[in-house]
Amino acid sequence: MGKPLIAGNWKMHGTAESARNLATQLSHHKFQENAVEMIIFPPLVHISAVSDVLANSRISLGAQNVSQYPNGAYTGEVSAEMLVDQGCKYVLVGHSERRVVFGESDQTVAEKFRAAQNAGLIPILCVGESLKQRQQDATFEVVAKQISAVIDLVGLDKVCQSVIAYEPIWAIGTGETASPEQAQDVHAAIRTQLGEAGRLTTLLYGGSVNKGNAAELFKQPDINGGLVGGASLEADEFLNIAQLVEA
Ligand code: PGA
Repeated sequence: MGKPLIAGNWKMHGTAESARNLATQLSHHKFQENAVEMIIFPPLVHISAVSDVLANSRISLGAQNVSQYPNGAYTGEVSAEMLVDQGCKYVLVGHSERRVVFGESDQTVAEKFRAAQNAGLIPILCVGESLKQRQQDATFEVVAKQISAVIDLVGLDKVCQSVIAYEPIWAIGTGETASPEQAQDVHAAIRTQLGEAGRLTTLLYGGSVNKGNAAELFKQPDINGGLVGGASLEADEFLNIAQLVEA
């Protein structure tokens, strides 16, 4: 069983003040000993403000994106070391919005994964199929290929030390969730692809997770937690979802 995690991806929302307020509300929550690890992913420009708020809390900080390059003349980019310097422990790589809207290839995602791990960050590798690919019965093939691209670059053991988030693109921000069975089937296939080395790898589900559907999803044997977008922007809703991870 992977370590239970609940991750909140704030995407491109909010001001510094709203980011600080949301982080403050979450940080006041009394987590139980050994409870689920909560990670929040604010927009990059608010990372420092949120990092200050989280300094003495049990909540971890992550970034939504990272450069594949260590440093140098890469205007507009932010390196993995800079994220570590700001207090980040995690980083999302290969979110479908990065792949689809910003054209990140499997190769670029793999390089970002490697850069993150080299700097000591834990990458959360996001994978998932489009609606068309699901309709063509290509889901397992697409997901396996996205993971293989990273294995080819860094090796299986390094991938198994990360976190993998299965996020069907058709379920992201649409209100339509994969059924618990659909999600579990893909998670089981990922677990099989990783083999023995991936027995303890944390596998998250993402795509319109909310407090109404989270319990059934998190009951599945290969789902160790969630990557939550829209429902992570409201403290009570996100905390409710977090409490369902181990229930
Ligand atoms: P959603 O986003 O929960 O709003 O569907 C999930 C994600 O993109 O990580």
